[in-house]
Amino acid sequence: MNPVTPYNNTESKKEQVAQMFDNIAFRYDFLNSLLSLGIHKGWRKKCIKLIAHKKPSAILDVATGTGDFAIAAMKLNPTKVIGIDISEGMMKFGREKLKKMNLDKTITLQYGDAETCDLPDNSMDAITVGFGVRNFENLEKGLANMLRILKPGGQLCVLEFSSPRKFPVKQFYMFHFKYITPTLGRMFSKDTRAYTYLPESIKAFPDNERFTAILEKVGYQKATFSSVGLGLAAIYMAEK
Ligand SMILES: C[S@@+](CC[C@H](N)C(=O)[O-])C[C@H]1O[C@@H](n2cnc3c(N)ncnc32)[C@H](O)[C@@H]1O
Repeated sequence: MNPVTPYNNTESKKEQVAQMFDNIAFRYDFLNSLLSLGIHKGWRKKCIKLIAHKKPSAILDVATGTGDFAIAAMKLNPTKVIGIDISEGMMKFGREKLKKMNLDKTITLQYGDAETCDLPDNSMDAITVGFGVRNFENLEKGLANMLRILKPGGQLCVLEFSSPRKFPVKQFYMFHFKYITPTLGRMFSKDTRAYTYLPESIKAFPDNERFTAILEKVGYQKATFSSVGLGLAAIYMAEK
């Protein structure tokens, strides 16, 4: 089966994803808040609370985008946070934000592909990924590379959209993603496909127990998930 891609053209999913995020970067934070009415911030905070008990000092935020998860991780007083992403456009806005918040000494945003980045083995206490795994070209390869980078006993925390299954959230979600998301997305981001790709990629993503099964297949231990936002998203936790 062909993967769901942003522009359905001959370029790889990775190239199309990087291009799409470069295109919408200037409106990404604004549209995130508008479309989710700010709920996404609470979900990241919840993730950070879930990894706090291990007191991670070195944290990697994969698919960091404009750096919101990396910024949320500062609550844990880490010694360093590295954010990696394949979209330079997203990180450019992230770096400006970090500078304004005076966080650019602790948080570094650098180009890096989850699937191939060569950060050292066993080097990070915790890895976070917010709304990123759905966009990977090769999901298992990305998860396996993150497992390699994680220290033994280290924690992976993935926050990702899921398809709500229950009435009336399912109906509300379908209406929102069919009519509201693409219209507002097109209006503000000027990218006609990005906010149509969003619901398509959520539908194609192996969420909930299917994702925990993939985490275990790749070699993670104690993979669990909990739904947030009445099933609009899920937080996945796993250990090395
Ligand atoms: C929806 S944004 C999420 C940004 C941020 N984590 C957040 O919570 O708002 C998804 C990001 O994943 C990045 N991405 C997609 N595939 C990637 C990969 N293989 N490696 C690193 N980043 C990737 C995209 O470039 C994009 O910036």
